[in-house]
Amino acid sequence: MTEPVRDDELQPLFAAAELRTRVAELGAAIGETYTEAPDPPVLVGILKGCAVFLADLARAIPLDIDLDFMAISSYNQDADSSGVVRIVMDVETDVANRDVVIVEDIVDTGLTLNFLRQTLLTRRPRTLRVVTLLDKKARRILPIEVDWSGFEIGDLYVLGYGIDHQGRYRNLDHLVSVTDLKLLASEEDRYVPALFPVAGVSR
Ligand code: IMP
Ligand code: MG
Repeated sequence: MTEPVRDDELQPLFAAAELRTRVAELGAAIGETYTEAPDPPVLVGILKGCAVFLADLARAIPLDIDLDFMAISSYNQDADSSGVVRIVMDVETDVANRDVVIVEDIVDTGLTLNFLRQTLLTRRPRTLRVVTLLDKKARRILPIEVDWSGFEIGDLYVLGYGIDHQGRYRNLDHLVSVTDLKLLASEEDRYVPALFPVAGVSR
């Protein structure tokens, strides 16, 4: 352990109840879009960050849908996205002529989303839309728009509700932002005791 955690290092961003309300609205909006669609839409979750959001979102859509997943690996593990990504797991669904919805946790620079869109577009979906829980619009490198976003946020580094730092913190039921990313980067487990009340096994 290095320096003790100061009170101002973690800021609450969205509480579990706020997430629930907003995700219900997103589910309703997505449902409306596809009521007249010829086939059930295919939600394509981008692992692993989408997992918690997608579980709630899918149940908030009052329509028959298909679920599938992709996993990509970026060569930069952390906050900075190089845009150089490769597919580590691909969808099983043949998305040709289907209504596809990419489900992302965060769109930041837009580089990852651009890669995913280009990749899926080569397979000729009927439509391709994007839903993201969080949109860091001000940080875009590529001018890419999403169709639905839960919340637009500034240049904050966030954790929880599926969103991680080095694999940690995904199972928080709410979102927090980290004020000093350098401290967290130097000590991955720094906020584990503060955020998880039961002391489990340390890594
Ligand atoms: P982009 O290619 O820069 O848009 O990167 C988006 C990806 O970067 C997200 O799917 C996250 O995996 C990661 N990311 C961006 N911002 C944050 C954050 O605040 N916390 C944790 N991961 C983030
Ligand atoms: Mg991600």
